[in-house]
Amino acid sequence: MVRGLPIYLDYAATTPLDPRVLEAMLPALTGDFGNAASRSHAYGWRAEALVKDARETLARALGGEAREIVFTSGATESDNLALLGAAHAAGPGKTHVVTSQLEHSAVLDSARQLEREGFRVTTLPPGADGVPGAASVAEAIGAETFLVSVMTANNETGTLNPVAEIGRVCRERNVLFHTDAVQAFGKVPFDVGSFPVDLVSISAHKVCGPKGIGALWVRSGAPRVRLAPLIHGGGHERGLRSGTLNVPAIVGFATAARLALESRVEESRRVAFLRDRLQAAILEAVPDALLNGHPAERLPGTLNLAFPGVDGDQLFLELSGLAVSPGAACSSDSLEPSHVLLALGRSPALARASIRFSLGRFTTATEVDAAAAQVAAAVRKLRVVSR
Ligand SMILES: Cc1ncc(COP(=O)(O)O)c(C=O)c1O
Repeated sequence: MVRGLPIYLDYAATTPLDPRVLEAMLPALTGDFGNAASRSHAYGWRAEALVKDARETLARALGGEAREIVFTSGATESDNLALLGAAHAAGPGKTHVVTSQLEHSAVLDSARQLEREGFRVTTLPPGADGVPGAASVAEAIGAETFLVSVMTANNETGTLNPVAEIGRVCRERNVLFHTDAVQAFGKVPFDVGSFPVDLVSISAHKVCGPKGIGALWVRSGAPRVRLAPLIHGGGHERGLRSGTLNVPAIVGFATAARLALESRVEESRRVAFLRDRLQAAILEAVPDALLNGHPAERLPGTLNLAFPGVDGDQLFLELSGLAVSPGAACSSDSLEPSHVLLALGRSPALARASIRFSLGRFTTATEVDAAAAQVAAAVRKLRVVSR
């Protein structure tokens, strides 16, 4: 916690940089400043070696191979590259994409762009259990379908989707499967070798790495994944993403991924314990608060609660001591209720009166207890006022 600032419970939006990540990045910001594409001198070779190491570390973290990592500016770009890149490389007659209503805007807006370009998009609603099920994906796939995109874990509720089953359906039907694993990566077991998947988006700043760096994992081997680049230029990243590589950020990304994976099991347990403590304390004070998302199949650090009978805007004003999110942080400048909570069947008022608490590496029990007390006091106060 930074003195004078609210308690930070918004790890799903972004995370503080781990000091060990900063330490790893510093040499690449100073002495090793070379261009990784410079083949004619030692500065370039040293930068290239740093990128090679980082690529291998990230590939290991995902369970894939180094040549399958395409560095991007973040998961927004990775999602764009997956959807638009696959669409632009799809064969004749392949004009249909399947996705879900619960996706991040980076996927949903890429899908909308595809519609403007003449592609057809099916956006599946969640089933009764709140997740887009493999059966509904199977039903939506037709002869024209070339891609399915369903996220691994939802950024607003933390709910885990049945991506292994969906991947199997896609493989059976010869359709590419993309998953946005931004929220899941480093927090729950995730291995591209354990289920059929072709494209995976990840981002460094959700795992205590730097902002502005991400990757798209692109499966190699048969059947071949065809992608068209969005950014053209010097042919970096096997022609899939041109532009001088951001070596310090890449080094930071790999270090952050390694640290997250090394401590994943204990950290998940610790964070889930704190999340449960926060949930229990709030529910004790506000017994009619409702959990948004799946009660069991969820990320360790995400808790999304709806507070019936209070005005969402006023609730946020009362919670000025907490850095929490009213929905997806990426669209938090919009006053629209969260599309995810609406898709899950919440009313607009209840969606507005929902709060996402997301905990992470530096969250403490003291912070969690103070947050629960602030929420309880705010709800109590607003209910007295509105009586
Ligand atoms: C699920 C999901 N996908 C994509 C993104 C975008 O990632 P980035 O900030 O790296 O562009 C986010 C970030 O909020 C996210 O939570």
